[in-house]
This record gives sequence, structure tokens and C-alpha cells, in this order.
Amino acid sequence: MRAQIIGTGSCLPEKIVTNDFLSTIVDTSDEWVSSRTGIRQRHISVDETTVSLSAEAGRRAMEMAGITADEIDLIIVATCTADTLVPSTACLVQDELHAVHATAFDINAACSGFVFALNLADVYMQAGVYRTALVIGAETLSRIVDWKDRTTCVLFADGAGAAVVRAAETGVSFSTLGSDGSRGGAIYVKSRENYNPFVTEKKPMDFLYMDGGEVFKFAVKKIPEAILETLDKAGLSVDDVDWFLLHQANARINQSIARKLKIPIEKVPMNVDHCGNTSGGSVPILLDEVNRKGMLKSGDTIVCAGFGSGLTWGVMLMTWA
Ligand code: ACO
Repeated sequence: MRAQIIGTGSCLPEKIVTNDFLSTIVDTSDEWVSSRTGIRQRHISVDETTVSLSAEAGRRAMEMAGITADEIDLIIVATCTADTLVPSTACLVQDELHAVHATAFDINAACSGFVFALNLADVYMQAGVYRTALVIGAETLSRIVDWKDRTTCVLFADGAGAAVVRAAETGVSFSTLGSDGSRGGAIYVKSRENYNPFVTEKKPMDFLYMDGGEVFKFAVKKIPEAILETLDKAGLSVDDVDWFLLHQANARINQSIARKLKIPIEKVPMNVDHCGNTSGGSVPILLDEVNRKGMLKSGDTIVCAGFGSGLTWGVMLMTWA
């Protein structure tokens, strides 16, 4: 049995922040941000949390799938911005949804997180361990971004996407996941500083650091390679794919991937213009958007791809239900 997506949902914070607003708090402009990244606006949490966004995205996905929470036996949340270190986001979502029969845990593979989580659900289903999973990618990156740093605060945003996944004859078919920890310095955020009695130097709070150029070069090289590797496993070519749902970090990265692989840009939907980079949330939010627009047809061949901190990358091939 393989993991088949039978419902999608997403949830974005109510507050919309435009590039023009950002130009009032840091030295930037709509022209700079939109021409370099494709981003025009993004959703930023005020009252919403990673848990509340995840739970609402999950509710919407369950509603579309026509299932109740007690049918879910696995919840995986992919996030690098959990509200709490423990318990996991997934356990708190389980409680909000009353998914009393689920095993729940988080994974952290940054912007590749949703693809990694869906792969994990698929592997469990191949092994016959679980039958119905809720796979969520969710972030409140606005809490780890330095709002005085124009090189990062214009890029990142908040939101969650979810997929209800059921064991079926078709669905996910091939995946290619990878990591290169030696390049972890390209994007990092430190966790809590150590304030135990033996540490004398008290350090200030740290924010997200990113070497944008390094990430750009990595993504435009690694993602085309991993897509070709995945298609090769399936004996397919780029032309056999109906949709390429790529991580929404930067429109220029996705245009460059499409150019390299000679993919018509119409097959590479983007929502980075109004969502920004929601890291682990980005692929499932985009998936839900194109699904609700009615763009995905039964039998469509879909490639999902994520890349980000780690560095990590993940490509997944699936047949739409
Ligand atoms: N507004 C105005 N000027 C800016 C801004 C800003 N928001 N940010 C940087 N600049 C300035 C820089 O200071 C620099 O000025 P200088 O030449 O005087 O030093 C100039 O603009 C050019 O900066 P670059 O970093 O070279 O700009 P570049 O064209 O490379 O674009 C960007 C930067 C958009 C970050 C690009 O490198 C990129 O998209 N990289 C990929 C990053 C990414 O996708 N990250 C997310 C993936 S990882 C994850 O999702 C967790």
C-alpha cells in the first residue's frame, strides 16, 4: 500500500504585510523585494500560533477528505518553529482535534519538512503500520526572524498546510531525500542558550541567519538533479509530469529550475507572491491552493520538491487520486 492524499487544507494568519509596509521598518522597497524574489505580500501571525495554524489546516483537510478525527492513526507535523520544545506540535494538534487514536510527533527538516514527513507516512503505509495519517507542514517564522535585518525579514512568513493521507493502491511512488550537514552554516537559528550554573557568559537571543547566495546556488543545482533522479527511478521524463509543486522560497529559483529542466512555467504554479517563504508550510499550502482551484485531476502525475536548511532536499513523485 502507498500513501494517497485524499484531502488538503491550509491556514494563513489574518494579518497581511505588504512590501510597502516593510519599507517603513527597514531600508527596502517593493521594487527590490518583488524583483529579487517575486514576493509582494505575506501573512504574519499576531494571535495565531504554529499549533493553531496546524490544527485549522488539519480540520480543513479532514473536512475535504470526509473523515473524522478518530479515524486518524498518525499525525506528523513538519516544523522548525514549534511553539514548545516539548510537547511536540503534533501532540498539541492531536489534542485540539481530539484525534484520540493517533500517534503524534514532529520532524524538523526545515523547508524540506513536508516532503520528508509525507515520505515517512508513505513508508509506514508500505509497512502496514498506519492506515490514515494527517501530515502537516507549519511555521511561524516571524518569531525567529530579526525584524531589523532587511536581508531576511522580507523573505519569511507564517502559515500551515495539511494533507490527509490514506493507505491505497496508488499515490506516492518514488522519493529522493538527502542532507548535507557540512553546509548547515548556510541557514541556521540557535535554540535556547545554555543558562545552566556552569556557563558564565549569558548570550542575547539569536535570530535566523542566512547566506542567501549560497542557498540560491544549492537549490538551482540540487533540485533539478534530484527531480531527474526521482523520475529516472520511475522510468519517466520531465514531459510525463503534469505539475511541479516546488518550495516557495523565491520565484527566481523556481524559474531557474524550470529553465534548466525545460519545464513549461505553466506547470510550475507559484504563490510566493502572496505567501512569501513559509518553509515547511510552503509545499502543502501551495498543494491546497492548486487543489482547491480544481487544477489537479485524477491520475495527474505530480512532483513535490522542498529544499532548505540542513542543508536538506526532498523530491516526491505521486499520482493524484
Ligand atoms: N532591500 C534592499 N536591499 C537589500 C535587501 C532588501 N530587503 N536585502 C539585501 N539588500 C542589499 C544587500 O545589502 C546588497 O547591498 P550591497 O550590494 O550594497 O552590499 C544588495 O542588496 C544585493 O544583495 P544580495 O544578497 O547580493 O542580493 P541578491 O540579488 O542575491 O538577492 C536574495 C538576495 C533574494 C536573498 C537571494 O540571494 C535569494 O533569493 N537567495 C535564496 C534565499 C532563499 O531562497 N532562502 C530561502 C530558502 S531556505 C529556507 O527556506 C529556510
